[in-house]
Amino acid sequence: MCGIVGYIGENNAADVLLGGLKRLEYRGYDSAGICMLDGGELHTERSVGKVQDLADKVYQNLPENIIQATRLGVAHTRWATHGEPSEENAHPHLDQSGRVALVHNGIIENYKEIRQRLTAAGHSFKSQTDSEVLAHLIGAYYGENGDFLQAVCGALNQVEGTFGIAALCLDQPDCVVVARRGSPIVVGLGHNETIVASDAAAIIAHTDQVIYLDDDDVALLKRDDVDLRNIHNVPVSRDVARIEWDARAAEKDGYDHFMLKEIFEQADSLCNTFRGRLDVKQGTAILSGLNLTPREMADIQKVLLIACGTSLHAAMLGKYYFEDLADLCTDVEPAAEFRYRNPIVHARDLAVAISQSGETADTLAAVREAMNKGARVTGLCNVVGSTIARETGTGVYLHAGPEIGVASTKAFTSQMMVLMMMALKFGRGRRLSIQKGLEIIKEIERTPELVAKTLELNQHIAGIAKKYHYVRDFFFIGRGYLYPVALEGALKLKEISYIHAEGYHAAELKHGPIALLEPDVPVLALACDVPGKDKLLGNVEECRARKAPVIGIATEDDEEAVSYLDEVIPVPRTSTLLAPLTAVIAAQLFAYHMARFRGCEIDQPRNLAKSVTVE
Ligand code: AGP
Ligand code: GLU
Repeated sequence: MCGIVGYIGENNAADVLLGGLKRLEYRGYDSAGICMLDGGELHTERSVGKVQDLADKVYQNLPENIIQATRLGVAHTRWATHGEPSEENAHPHLDQSGRVALVHNGIIENYKEIRQRLTAAGHSFKSQTDSEVLAHLIGAYYGENGDFLQAVCGALNQVEGTFGIAALCLDQPDCVVVARRGSPIVVGLGHNETIVASDAAAIIAHTDQVIYLDDDDVALLKRDDVDLRNIHNVPVSRDVARIEWDARAAEKDGYDHFMLKEIFEQADSLCNTFRGRLDVKQGTAILSGLNLTPREMADIQKVLLIACGTSLHAAMLGKYYFEDLADLCTDVEPAAEFRYRNPIVHARDLAVAISQSGETADTLAAVREAMNKGARVTGLCNVVGSTIARETGTGVYLHAGPEIGVASTKAFTSQMMVLMMMALKFGRGRRLSIQKGLEIIKEIERTPELVAKTLELNQHIAGIAKKYHYVRDFFFIGRGYLYPVALEGALKLKEISYIHAEGYHAAELKHGPIALLEPDVPVLALACDVPGKDKLLGNVEECRARKAPVIGIATEDDEEAVSYLDEVIPVPRTSTLLAPLTAVIAAQLFAYHMARFRGCEIDQPRNLAKSVTVE
């Protein structure tokens, strides 16, 4: 996601727009840009890097009298999805005529087809982005009918995908047109000024009176009027709401920490991860970024999943997916080991580097080792244009939006989603039937609802955390698909609450670790109703026989499991494939509340960094 701001009013547009971008920078920060209209001229500046870099350019390059005279403009801080972070790809994007400027949050899924059509009609593009195509499409409609609002409506009726846009036109110096589908747009109603942004953080300093646009709403904003339509140009009405937060809280959308915000974003981030990637006719996944023909995919004899930390736990899940759905032998490789142990790699191996940041030094080095040994390599990254994404040259972006909290949450569930879609795609190229493929797609489409239901357990989980937040040691145990979740849950607790938490395969406890169990060493058992549960409950019994209290993440209404547990976190019933999803969200919330009760610094835990770019 990214942040967009638009303004029309009596104040200095440059100050308002740049100030708004600063408050949205957490939404995306690889590049930024601004376009202001004054005196029949568009003034546009773009820069790679932070909003401050853009501000420096604006105040250096634009004459003071122009800056002081600007009363209308749009601005953008980018989180790249199509086209690397660069000045050319930074928004705003102009249309062919240079009269229309647009900033966009979202993904235009059919941008390639529209771009081909416009190119054939004589358009030339300056960037690699999907957003520039939308600017040209609006410009093309505007050139035909001369009505800017109509032109935006006409263009948006052609678009598949998501958008939150703000656009201005050289010929209409008194209005900004905005629209939304899938990406938020908030319109702030000030005194003789109207400000629009991706979220309240950029508005609260000017007004607390806002209108939240609904999907397919379009609005023509003037300094003292909002003309609301839908994309079919039919007038609609929306309530005026009041922003409840203070300016500081609004940066996190009202959450106390980015980590909690990102935990609660997972229904949306998963949607963004699988959007446009499910082929509901063939029962497979559309992952063109892998750049593999069916023949080349069929030729792959082994998958190497290479990662660190939370991404390594996602890789462990990927092993289950690839082997169960695609009958593909899959090795999970801790990157720091892989890069030094002189691994055996074949030309028919596919090495998959999994990295949220795309900058982890060990993972990058492991990718290079795999390449040197002749494997095909591909990347699963969240940051577009990151080093691993560039060096692998092919791959699948998570589209999870920026993850600010050092403790990874939404990236993990999006990695899990991408790995499931990859396994589905490879499986359908092998023995997986179309019927099974369609079943899996239906399950993937259910995930936002499952996430939302799990998040409703937040207060219940907080209550359990409150009882145990004083402990010094914790065990997490799981089996099968839930074993990686035991490791991930323990890592989350370790890194933000500083409790010594260990994740183990449940069967491993009796080979030594069980010696540590005592009444003040609790165990969190991943006891969802999936294969292995009976054995897991037997392990729970072994723990309770040593007087260790056992908290269970179990399937709701599973009375059998409840009878074994001291505390229960009842997650929604799912298939085996998706059991890790609801379980890990419960574990994320548990770790968050444990750290909160312990008064820990949650978003930037001690000794840690968001991206480990050193060995
Ligand atoms: C996870 O919460 C940690 N922040 C850490 O383990 C992280 O997953 C690891 O450093 C790998 O980062 P990457 O996904 O960006 O490569
Ligand atoms: N898809 C657009 C781009 O890559 C917008 C990305 C976003 O919403 O952050 O520039």
